[in-house]
Amino acid sequence: MSSKSVLVTGGLGFIGSHTVVALQKEGYKVVIIDNLSNSSIDVLGGITQITGKTPEFENLDLRDKEAVKNFFEKYPDIEDVIHFAASKAVGESVINPLLYYENNIATLVYLLQELNKKPNARFIFSSSCTVYGQADELPITENAPVKKAESPYGNTKQIGEEILQDTCKTNLHFKAIALRYFNPIGAHPTAEIGELPIGTPQNLIPFITQTAIGKREELSVFGDDYPTEDGTAIRDYIHVMDLAEAHVKALKRLIDAKEKSNYEVFNLGTGKGNSVLEVIKSFEKVSGEKLPYKVVGRREGDIISAYADTTKANEDLGWKADRSLDDALKSAWKWQKVVRKREEEEN
Ligand code: WQD
Repeated sequence: MSSKSVLVTGGLGFIGSHTVVALQKEGYKVVIIDNLSNSSIDVLGGITQITGKTPEFENLDLRDKEAVKNFFEKYPDIEDVIHFAASKAVGESVINPLLYYENNIATLVYLLQELNKKPNARFIFSSSCTVYGQADELPITENAPVKKAESPYGNTKQIGEEILQDTCKTNLHFKAIALRYFNPIGAHPTAEIGELPIGTPQNLIPFITQTAIGKREELSVFGDDYPTEDGTAIRDYIHVMDLAEAHVKALKRLIDAKEKSNYEVFNLGTGKGNSVLEVIKSFEKVSGEKLPYKVVGRREGDIISAYADTTKANEDLGWKADRSLDDALKSAWKWQKVVRKREEEEN
């Protein structure tokens, strides 16, 4: 176990905070950078409640190149970075592409410029299955072609991976793993941390739980005319705790120098696809709530079906998602009820 700290950027965000918990559980010391643009300082308390350890926290915007440089002067020993900090709303990226290119690309470059000065640095990049677009073959392996992104958000993930590849080519002491997430859902079983969408949720699960709690009128199901069994689109919904644990496995792979090359890519999914209607049915079962929904037209840019071939992650990371869709939806519902209680106490 390295006695040095691991930097987690975006560590107060949804996937970042769950990964911090998983890292601390494995005995890693963690330093979080977060600019709180899409998270709350309360998450730090949630992490501490779960693990009994409060990570060091720097409220810092990675778009400030000088601040990034100063950070690594303050923490000269840090050589392991898990990079979550980025904007991630597909729709917003179409409306405001430059915000996405600055916040998702410039920040990556500033981080890598500092890490490149170190004799050894290890970097884990938060990527997305969105790079595949609608894959020609299912399940999707890491060899599936990367397709022209449907959104600036998706493009920043593709460009981010290319930047990493080029950096690894020119610096063999720099090792990186890109993790292509499928659809992260759920919350920590203690309901101390979870997903905190700001405004109207874009993603399916938070919209479902906010509808069930009465915050939204009804769920709109975006299309039931897809060429699937029940006509609704299929995704690979992975419990955020399974996803978090995969990051620890990836870090261990880099620290133990088990990697086959200094740049590797892994799909992180369950390997199983579920349709929107199947998710609704599962949610109603685990929550005991009837979910009001109506079928509307397809959402622009949505693909028909995506689910992961998890062989490579199973074999090379020694990792497998072992929580079910029911587990994830149950944890999301438990978390939603906690959030609602807090909102009522605040008002
Ligand atoms: C899932 C399914 C919708 C909302 C995106 C990004 C991906 C990642 C996760 C950031 C689709 C349907 C949704 C609703 C619905 N982003 N849906 N009604 O689009 O698969 O993936 O978010 O990390 O990179 O591409 O996720 O949750 O938005 O949609 O019917 O109100 O639910 O059409 O079939 P998506 P999603």
